[in-house]
Amino acid sequence: MTSSGISIKGVEVVYGVGGSQPVTALKDIDLDIADGEFVSLVGPSGCGKSTLLKVVSDLMGPTRGSVTIGDTSPSQMRKDGRLGLVFQQANLMPWLTISKNIDLLRSLVSGRGGTVSPNGATVDELIDLVGLSGFGDKFAHQLSGGMQQRAALARALALDPAVLLMDEPFAALDEITRDRMAFELMRIWQRYRKTVLFVTHSLGEAVLLSDRVVLMSARPGRIHKVFDIDLPRPRTPETRLDERYHRLVMELNRELYAVMT
Ligand SMILES: Nc1ncnc2c1ncn2[C@@H]1O[C@H](COP(=O)(O)OP(=O)(O)O)[C@@H](O)[C@H]1O
Ligand SMILES: [Mg+2]
Repeated sequence: MTSSGISIKGVEVVYGVGGSQPVTALKDIDLDIADGEFVSLVGPSGCGKSTLLKVVSDLMGPTRGSVTIGDTSPSQMRKDGRLGLVFQQANLMPWLTISKNIDLLRSLVSGRGGTVSPNGATVDELIDLVGLSGFGDKFAHQLSGGMQQRAALARALALDPAVLLMDEPFAALDEITRDRMAFELMRIWQRYRKTVLFVTHSLGEAVLLSDRVVLMSARPGRIHKVFDIDLPRPRTPETRLDERYHRLVMELNRELYAVMT
């Protein structure tokens, strides 16, 4: 199996180059994410988290610098269906059933037609994996927001991607659903060990899920500090009772205020 670590080197992104008011959204971003590592990005609104995720997922190119995933480019990874993307909104096709939505990408990615995943999972198994058993024949409007996000996660996993890129995937959910989804995601990650880059504005969620948390500062977006999260795994609801968990959240909170003032 090839390595799927992410290497971000000297990335700078300027929006509106050549215009009257260019915005430097990211500057001097250097970050190496190991194969199978779970890394979260946190930071004030507008610090460039989504921009960085877009660069890693090949939705836009950097103005300067480079990103490599394993030994190839984000664009090749995307063409090969090896990047799984999940956003705040599930964006399911309303005219297709949940099963069809989950299966859709498989038929679109060339050269991988008929492949089933992860590790040979069928659509029904993917549906079970994300806790949507019995809902495969339903349509998006018949599902709650949390269930739609589960379907979006199954869709992202359908190609057995090496890398999962998630931009505030639980932000639109209520707190209880969000918490459950976080544990579900961890369970899936423990089982399949994807490399994950996860954007959240919840410091607690970042600490609970991650191996490392990257705190960014704004104007222009830079990496302010990287926190190692040395809490034991598997993490459980009890992890939140761990004194180290609280210390990490408090430290992050303090640093976040520092970069915001
Ligand atoms: N398409 C765009 N055109 C111009 N400026 C943009 C565009 N997208 C984002 N920006 C600016 O880049 C900065 C970073 O935005 P973004 O990556 O969305 O931050 P975050 O996700 O951390 O809130 C912000 O100042 C934002 O206004
Ligand atoms: Mg964003």
